[in-house]
Amino acid sequence: MIGVFDSGMGGLTAVKEILDIMPDAAIRYFGDTGRVPYGSRSRETIIRYALQDARFLASQKVGVILVACGTVSSTAMEALRDELDIPVIGVVEPTAEAAVKATKNKKIGIIGTAATIASQSYVKHIASLDPDIETYATACPLFVPLVEGGFTAEGCQITELAAEHYLAPLREKGIDTLILGCTHYPIISDAIAKALPGVTLINSGSEAARALADIVAGNTDPTSDAKYYVSDSPEGFASAASLFLGRRIDGQVEKIDIENY
Ligand code: DGL
Repeated sequence: MIGVFDSGMGGLTAVKEILDIMPDAAIRYFGDTGRVPYGSRSRETIIRYALQDARFLASQKVGVILVACGTVSSTAMEALRDELDIPVIGVVEPTAEAAVKATKNKKIGIIGTAATIASQSYVKHIASLDPDIETYATACPLFVPLVEGGFTAEGCQITELAAEHYLAPLREKGIDTLILGCTHYPIISDAIAKALPGVTLINSGSEAARALADIVAGNTDPTSDAKYYVSDSPEGFASAASLFLGRRIDGQVEKIDIENY
């Protein structure tokens, strides 16, 4: 079984890709909807939350965990790998690798939460792959609340305004590739693409899901059931998630008390 977690809905961008590649995959998803957002919190808090999230998934007997959150992947991978005795995959490495492959003019933009950008996780990984690449990193703290608040429809003016505000400086730098370094951001990729015409968008949820598929290839549990757990109301999550995943998951969402883990 594959465990996937995020602070909220963002990790569904990875789940969608996992189900596209491995429709029979058995998945246990945890979205920490009661404590989202993570990206504006201290390192200590992010690590504490991440360990609780992972302990919950481990209690569900998953065999591998995908950290479908740029913030946790940038902050807590060492703590998670120290604590868990199953493989833990983050989003930073596969996403940085995809961006390095995609860029032609060697100018890559990176957007993420405040914690992700402060950690320089993507910048450092890109530099280790190709030191000639110029990177331009910007935090977009309004994006996660916009996605969790449902401001996701194509043409939504508030989201387009926020995207223009954050991304106009990157447009001026002439980037040809943009890392969506937070897994929530692909959900508003229309607004992001509108602010950066012609720029290749790299989806961290999808890239991490593909890296996971390579690792678990041929080794999945063919029970093909998915269960979704949240730390706040299941109803709102179920309807937004069903819409995003393109499949109804209403009966499959359960609320848990994450503070018990
Ligand atoms: N999806 C999370 C990420 O990738 C959002 C973090 C947050 O809750 O601020 O960073």
